[in-house]
Amino acid sequence: MSEVYDVCVIGAGPGGYVAAIRSAQLGLKTAIVEREFVGGVCLNVGCIPSKAMISAAHFLHRVQHDADEMGIKIGGKVDVDFKKLQSWKQSVCDKMSGGVTQLLKGNNVDILNGEATFVGEDKISIRSKAGAQQVKAKNFVIATGSRPIEIPGFKFDEKIVLSSTGGLALESPPKHLVVIGGGYIGLEIGGFLSKLGSKITVLEAADKLFGGLVESDAVQVVARKLKKQGVEIITGAKALGFKKSGKGVEVEYEVGGKKQKIGADKILVTVGRKPNSDQLNLKEIGVQFDERGFIKVNPQMKTNKSGLYAIGDIAGQPMLAHKASHEGVLVAEVISGKNRVFDAKTVPAVIFTDPEIASVGRTEAECKKDGFTELSIGKFPFGANGRAVSIMETDGFVKIIADKKTNVVLGVHIVGPEASNLISEAALAIEMGATLEDLALTIHPHPTLGETVMECAEAALGHAIHIIQKPLGGPSKRRPGASA
Ligand code: FAD
Ligand code: NAI
Repeated sequence: MSEVYDVCVIGAGPGGYVAAIRSAQLGLKTAIVEREFVGGVCLNVGCIPSKAMISAAHFLHRVQHDADEMGIKIGGKVDVDFKKLQSWKQSVCDKMSGGVTQLLKGNNVDILNGEATFVGEDKISIRSKAGAQQVKAKNFVIATGSRPIEIPGFKFDEKIVLSSTGGLALESPPKHLVVIGGGYIGLEIGGFLSKLGSKITVLEAADKLFGGLVESDAVQVVARKLKKQGVEIITGAKALGFKKSGKGVEVEYEVGGKKQKIGADKILVTVGRKPNSDQLNLKEIGVQFDERGFIKVNPQMKTNKSGLYAIGDIAGQPMLAHKASHEGVLVAEVISGKNRVFDAKTVPAVIFTDPEIASVGRTEAECKKDGFTELSIGKFPFGANGRAVSIMETDGFVKIIADKKTNVVLGVHIVGPEASNLISEAALAIEMGATLEDLALTIHPHPTLGETVMECAEAALGHAIHIIQKPLGGPSKRRPGASA
């Protein structure tokens, strides 16, 4: 047995590495254990590689479809060197992962390579090619993430049946890819492969994309654009199995009670992810889970076992990198004795489709469920925004939902260009309990996409400038006293 750490973090994803850095910043003797890559799923096989591929495909698509209209002449065929694209994508991941390793080292965090297993509540064993070692710590932070769910009849081999990891590591775009699951990953990967030349068919089990969980008018904008791009979307479809056929496969599925077959050369299965809680001997040491396998934690990320904490994907929905990192900072501060709890009012969610969908707070349906019977809803289209028109990205809108009685903002849903960057203002608004007036009366620079948020708040109040609202000249819904 070597040293006893104050904090030993297991898993170096965006939850774990952030927890380790903050622990070290707070003067705690800290180690982090990682069995594969520093940066975890997000930096190596998730957020970063997918966004690199999405940005390259978007760039190509714009050159192919928009350049001519802007008067830009490109000599010859614009094409993709897929091998080079993959190696560029890998260089982006390596840069990010290498950067995190430097940050850990620079903060004096010991990086221990290998697979951790609990051999007691205060002790783990770490196995690697170099052998095994045991490590003791006063506090362990479990940040071991999640993995893709497999469905019967579609076992991942990463050659024919791909998980997201295989889908991001292809040697060439498949001619025809069947995507099972029209959620975050299916539509992000399917969307960029379609722009790179693949024919895509999406089989979604529910009757709406994203299982109906995303604001439906925003989803419609994306679905329309995907269809225009040639992506086929089949909802209410149950994938039954596949068999090899010639060089490809034949996928059997059922829709409306009828069995159908579709030829393809590869299948991407993206039906959700499950926590890695069946590993590490967690059950054996008595850690409690919920019915879906997430480790049960309190608002300070404490498990039922003293000195054991859990953060990130393994500690519950939403399985998003920024939620994991937020919990990483929080858990380190709790361990160091600070008075912190998870009390965020909202976790923003972004789907990097074309256009992007970004949301904070409640959907319309959730507002009604939570007892907000009277709502003020504003909608402002990107088509009426000068910046959107000048970059030729006018699909989509901003939608703000507020409580009619108080004008307090309850939810913001953006589908359109740079929705991912625009949503942070809305997240701040919800965290601070802002009203429609707060957004409408804040001066936004011109010409920017951000003006759509201001104008949308004005629209909810009944008088946006750049769209015609009926009844013309109607009363302002601004509360008395709420003026600039
Ligand atoms: P992870 O990132 O999963 O890291 C866990 C780490 O623990 C891994 O490195 C693993 O090797 C290690 N580990 C596991 N068990 C052990 C063990 N026994 N011993 C040692 N080490 C162990 N989220 C977003 O917010 N935005 C996005 O754009 C986005 N895009 C995504 C795209 C894809 C294709 C995928 C798959 C996911 C995406 N996500 C995105 C989700 C995001 O990746 C996760 O929410 C995030 O990585 C969770 O962080 P984490 O720290 O909990 O776990
Ligand atoms: P998901 O939960 O987003 O979507 C899964 C989809 O598959 C749903 O629409 C569901 O109705 C459907 N489905 C479920 N079972 C099915 C079946 N048997 N046949 C056909 N359809 C089926 O899951 P996904 O895309 O795998 O992503 C997992 C998680 O990773 C996300 O929920 C998110 O937390 C995270 N992620 C986040 C991203 C981001 O923030 N931009 C990007 C990618 C992933």
